[in-house]
Amino acid sequence: MKVMKVGLLGLGVVGEGTWKLLRSNMGELERRTGVRIEVTQVAVRDLAKARAKIGDAVPLTQDGLDVVRSPDVDVVVELMGGLNPAYDWVMEAIAQGKHVVTANKALLAERGNEIFQAAREKGVIVAFEAAVAGGIPVVKALREGLTANHIQWVAGIINGTTNFILSEMRTRGLTFKQALAEAQELGYAEADPTFDVEGIDAAHKLTLLASLAFGIPVPFGKAHAEGISDLTRKDVANAERLGYRIKLLGITRRTEKGIELRVHPTLIPAESLLANVSGAMNAVLVNGDAVGSTLYYGAGAGQMPTASAVVADLVDVARMASALPDHQVPHLGFQAAAMANTPILSM
Ligand code: NAP
Ligand code: HSE
Repeated sequence: MKVMKVGLLGLGVVGEGTWKLLRSNMGELERRTGVRIEVTQVAVRDLAKARAKIGDAVPLTQDGLDVVRSPDVDVVVELMGGLNPAYDWVMEAIAQGKHVVTANKALLAERGNEIFQAAREKGVIVAFEAAVAGGIPVVKALREGLTANHIQWVAGIINGTTNFILSEMRTRGLTFKQALAEAQELGYAEADPTFDVEGIDAAHKLTLLASLAFGIPVPFGKAHAEGISDLTRKDVANAERLGYRIKLLGITRRTEKGIELRVHPTLIPAESLLANVSGAMNAVLVNGDAVGSTLYYGAGAGQMPTASAVVADLVDVARMASALPDHQVPHLGFQAAAMANTPILSM
């Protein structure tokens, strides 16, 4: 059987989940793809911690360049987070002609244009389903299922940590701080949770959704981002008394003047669909001219749901890379050229 060799950069919440899922569902994945997906190298900072998770099964290193340059690695899976060294290692993987799977929305929101350009030139895949809305296949929905549509708007709950915090403040009366600590414990939060609670993580994801939905270059830095860190239990309870719930929404839509992107806490009628999305669940509504409104719902953060999206991308890579000759793989990034000059509204 053909083997696809995977180099993992990062073995934290999502990296460990990916490792576990590839092992637990190995037989099924082999039957579906005709390819054995095997982890052959792993990079982490703390070698002892990683050994405790995966034993002596694969070589470990602290230098991701060892992984991306290894002849024993066909596909690089970046699950470290942050901009550096993730950017350098992803770019080196592409330069080496290796396909990349990443869950790193911060990296793609800030450097996606360069990364996708490099991937196009090299004829390799950069897949990123796990970067938006955890386990929900919304990237695939926009890129494939809704591709016939002129997308009008995308809106929803796209950060699990803040939705968990707001839900726990409302239902269990936790303080903001207590609820955030639980979200961190459960593996939902970013390494720096400021990104979650100040709306920056949601803005990163919204930026990627807008690029996919409207066919524009990744509009980095154009999203208005406002978080929930100033909200108290009293605010949450007052909203409830008035028949509303507070949700952190990300909204991007076409307007006559250009494309709008905003993330902010919003009062929503308590009986509405989005108001009843609780815990770390996400829900994304997409409106297209032909299909009307569609809804994508599921776990937006956490180990195994996110691993589900990472492994789905690996399966895509395995199928495409084995079906097509080198350098003829379709790129999974942004088809930006046609809409490159669309104005993005700065708020
Ligand atoms: P995490 O638990 O903090 O794990 C990060 C991993 O990367 C750790 O194994 C860490 O090694 C390693 N790492 C970090 N910097 C490194 C460096 N300079 N050199 C080598 N290894 C390094 O993070 P996570 O929650 O798994 O998130 C990973 C990525 O997935 C992020 O981009 C995040 O935004 C994204 N994501 C996360 C979730 C989620 O629910 N957690 C969902 C969707 C997307 P050490 O442990 O040795 O320090
Ligand atoms: N910190 C992110 C969230 C992880 O809570 O949504 C999933 O992208």
